[in-house]
Amino acid sequence: MKQVKQELKPEERLIVAADYSPKEYSGIQGVEEKVMALAKDLEGLGVYIKVNSVLRAVGYGLIAKLHDLGLKVFADLKLIDIPNTMATDGEMLSEVEPEILTVMCCAGIDGMNAVQKLLGDSTEILGVTILTSLNEEDCQAIFTCSTKAGVLRFARMAQLAGLGGLILSPKEVDVLKNRFELALSLNTPGIRPEWSIVEGDDQTRVLTPLKAIKNGAERIVMGRPIMQAGPNDKGLPQNPREAAERTLEEIKAGLNS
Ligand code: C5P
Repeated sequence: MKQVKQELKPEERLIVAADYSPKEYSGIQGVEEKVMALAKDLEGLGVYIKVNSVLRAVGYGLIAKLHDLGLKVFADLKLIDIPNTMATDGEMLSEVEPEILTVMCCAGIDGMNAVQKLLGDSTEILGVTILTSLNEEDCQAIFTCSTKAGVLRFARMAQLAGLGGLILSPKEVDVLKNRFELALSLNTPGIRPEWSIVEGDDQTRVLTPLKAIKNGAERIVMGRPIMQAGPNDKGLPQNPREAAERTLEEIKAGLNS
């Protein structure tokens, strides 16, 4: 099994989400071009690039293309199915070996374990606990428990399945960090540096990179503050690379504080 909870370098702690919309960029091909342009901009920094919808749309060949640019790939496919089909997904992905892959914890232990067994040597498999878009009421309706109880339950299942880590909101890191410290890496979206301005932001429960790392997250997932960086006269990063570099400085500060 891939070793988890290893000492990660600052750049191995930043996952840049490449979420472009086909509406905005003239369809699937336009989105793929934007993802590749972002990847070129980030080339050599040693960070992860996270792809989801575009990967489904253009296929796993995109992972190889991103690897060719020297980027680590986070395949955010959130796999969920019967164990046999999840094993087939695992077999197909073993041909391209993304560095990180997500599965839904609610797929159950056997399905998660099937993927872990097939890919665990090359890929860190992360279980998605409860989507942060679900509120308490949703969680009761779907899982008949509170979000906190659900996260804990899914974390236990992920550990039993032998996974490498979890995706969870920065708020949930506190609930888990002392229980699963030795086994599961904690990876959190919902990150906003002080300097970021995101048009019509939908992330509400956010932490800065520094605070998230200081709180015990192993890696942070950040999209728009990096993707949307462009020329400005406000002292903000002028491009995605500069935004990623500034974030890496904050990660370093979080590690040293
Ligand atoms: O642009 P932003 O920094 O909000 O992007 C965060 C990324 O993390 C997106 O790709 C989003 O889908 C993902 N994510 C999230 N909340 C979760 C799980 C994943 O924001 N609970």
